[in-house]
Amino acid sequence: MEYAQQDTQSPLIYLNNAATTWPKPVGVLEEVADCLRLPLYEPGRTTGDGSTDYPSAAREALSAFFHAGPPEHFIFTQNATDSLNLLIHGFVKKIHVPFHAITTELEHNSVLRPLTALEQGGAITLSVVPFTDNTVSLAAIKKAICPETRLVVMTHGSNVLGSVQDIRPIAEYLHTNDIFFIVDGAQTSGHIRVELSDIPIGAFVFTGHKALFGIPGIGGFFIPDPDAVAIIRQGGTGTDSRTLTHPFEMPMRFEAGTHNYPGIASLYAGIRFIITTGQEAIERKNTNLTRSFIRELKGMRGITLYNENPDLPVVSFDITGIDNNEAGFILARAYNVITRTGLHCAPLVHERIDSGKGCIRASFSFFNTIEQIEMAAHAIREVALSADTQIRTD
Ligand SMILES: Cc1ncc(COP(=O)(O)O)c(C=O)c1O
Repeated sequence: MEYAQQDTQSPLIYLNNAATTWPKPVGVLEEVADCLRLPLYEPGRTTGDGSTDYPSAAREALSAFFHAGPPEHFIFTQNATDSLNLLIHGFVKKIHVPFHAITTELEHNSVLRPLTALEQGGAITLSVVPFTDNTVSLAAIKKAICPETRLVVMTHGSNVLGSVQDIRPIAEYLHTNDIFFIVDGAQTSGHIRVELSDIPIGAFVFTGHKALFGIPGIGGFFIPDPDAVAIIRQGGTGTDSRTLTHPFEMPMRFEAGTHNYPGIASLYAGIRFIITTGQEAIERKNTNLTRSFIRELKGMRGITLYNENPDLPVVSFDITGIDNNEAGFILARAYNVITRTGLHCAPLVHERIDSGKGCIRASFSFFNTIEQIEMAAHAIREVALSADTQIRTD
């Protein structure tokens, strides 16, 4: 099978897949190469006759993958951050008068920073809802709602705790109360089955370079009702070029300028890889890797685990007696184990779990193996033992 051959010779044990997945499926690399080998093609914009119309093909693939449509309501952006900025600022522009917005302590800075900037500029007032048992409940959100609330922005999956939020009841309640709901699906898309057809969300954000196996620089969002959000970007679309106002038609309404065609091709191939491999098979493998890793770390001396039951393949921990960045550096340099250390762009989560000092995060993907998990656990044990010895001799 074309996607089965991966570089198994690499000595690298890459456990930073929540930041960006590596390696990419061979089919993704080949699709990007194919995309660049032939002239780029998209009706109206470019004329590479005989080439694949990747934007249309990828929109169709996304629509089928997320069980949502029509395909033209899937918009391409640079990444999840770009999508969240377009949606949050676009919604504020549409509402036009100051209102109350709600977000959560679980958020990534790609949600917290645009909302904070708007709060500081006086466009919104903001409530940040706490999490309990690593998730945010509908009850907690209800508590924060007031008559002026018009927007809730919330992550679907935490990039530190690996917890998945139950967005359906929240979406249903907010929809009934005419509150726009933006869901940040950066961590869940590709990891778990996400079917949006009967969940009344305002918009769902995804990124290409994480579990959807695309390359960096491509992301997007799905918006069932495009009229809910004003556009904040105008430019060339290859259509209706005589008029000086940006076209209203979807998807051009939210897409100005030349597309990232190789990125879109990679996303298209990444989704095909997931479908060919099977979403359930991917989930099963990730769950296995995650549980094995947690089992290895659980009784280990000097290890504090911050999430023992994640829904996503993300495990956050601390090693007593050594700074997280230093531990990550040693793991990388001495053992070829690549983790991520620090605050993971989610400062409010860290205020809750580790007094804001940050932690080490190991995150897995379909291409990791149980042997790698065992080797990584061995390396962590050695670093923890050495830190423990250091404490005792100091
Ligand atoms: C929960 C969450 N939201 C948003 C982002 C931002 O994603 P991107 O780098 O694609 O903008 C990330 C990336 O780590 C994330 O984990």
